[in-house]
Amino acid sequence: MDKLQPYLTKAQDLYKKFYEKRGKKGLVQAAALGLGLLFLQYQVRKYNGWLKKKSVANQHIFITGGASGIGRNMAKRFARLGAKISIVDVNTTALQEVVDAINKELGNKTAFGVYCDVSDPQSVKNAISESITFHNRSIDILINNAGVVSGRQLLQNSEAGITKTININTTAHHWTVREVLANMMENNHGHIVTIASIAGLVGVRGLVDYCASKFGAVGFDESLRFELRAKKSKVRTTCICPYFINTGMFDGAKSRFPLLFPILSEEYASQRIVNAILQNETVVIMPVILNFAIMIKACFPTCVYDNMMELFGVSESMDHFKGRAQSK
Ligand SMILES: NC(=O)c1ccc[n+]([C@@H]2O[C@H](COP(=O)([O-])OP(=O)(O)OC[C@H]3O[C@@H](n4cnc5c(N)ncnc54)[C@H](O)[C@@H]3O)[C@@H](O)[C@H]2O)c1
Repeated sequence: MDKLQPYLTKAQDLYKKFYEKRGKKGLVQAAALGLGLLFLQYQVRKYNGWLKKKSVANQHIFITGGASGIGRNMAKRFARLGAKISIVDVNTTALQEVVDAINKELGNKTAFGVYCDVSDPQSVKNAISESITFHNRSIDILINNAGVVSGRQLLQNSEAGITKTININTTAHHWTVREVLANMMENNHGHIVTIASIAGLVGVRGLVDYCASKFGAVGFDESLRFELRAKKSKVRTTCICPYFINTGMFDGAKSRFPLLFPILSEEYASQRIVNAILQNETVVIMPVILNFAIMIKACFPTCVYDNMMELFGVSESMDHFKGRAQSK
């Protein structure tokens, strides 16, 4: 305490001098600036992945739709961090290629892959049970990543198309999470990750079924988080809401102001999501500028928000959509 005394006296003197010169208003301004800077440095550290990260070594990470795109990319990144990976997908050829690539790079039993249609509860049950048997470990991190997009306006879409989107992008989350949650809660350990979309927070024409499904996924994550909070559970949740990513899924979709709203690269998006999981972040909107769209929606009348969305070209971004099937 004696050692600290000179510093405390100096701080008191500085405070007095500052108060005499600037008064109460100056103090409030300085406090606001300090808090702002503190918040800013925290955000910078968070977005660059410089916060404290948890270890995933030997943890069992189960990724749906991991045969391509960001699911495949995340699987490789987590495997390199020492995790045991289970990948499920309906595309068994691509799935096997990812599993083989990981096992070739990191050793034979690092990755396990099995067919699973996430919209079918029995298929989910089987895949989870087989992956637990393979790795001899219950699931530590579940990443609900599998997704589809039709890119059709409401009246051009079919009943089957709409049902498929909702079943895979939203309902499936119930099947996978119900399989692992009880065990996670019992162990007071685990992490449920929802790969939603900015389309789960903002409506876009041409994406009625997709937005409905992703708004559902966002609601699923948020409600689950509150259920876990009420039980003081240490099971974590993370909801990811990205803008377009160049995986091929949204080929043809356009950003009117690419400098402001850039189409994200698969590499960047996957690294950011992995960091968010390791840093136990709850909600990630990327790129960060899209937080302003949410703020405008929350704070201004709907007509202001609608006009902003049109001005920034958000509502027309799907007009030239081709999607993966029609792309190379
Ligand atoms: N690409 C983007 O612009 C973008 C933007 C925001 C959110 N997302 C979301 O990110 C996630 C991954 O997208 P991506 O860009 O990597 O797409 P992707 O098409 O490369 O990957 C999706 C994977 O899900 C698999 N899949 C489809 N139906 C399935 C089913 N019934 N059961 C199991 N697997 C199934 C596909 O075979 C594919 O391997 C999706 O949920 C998507 O909605 C993508």
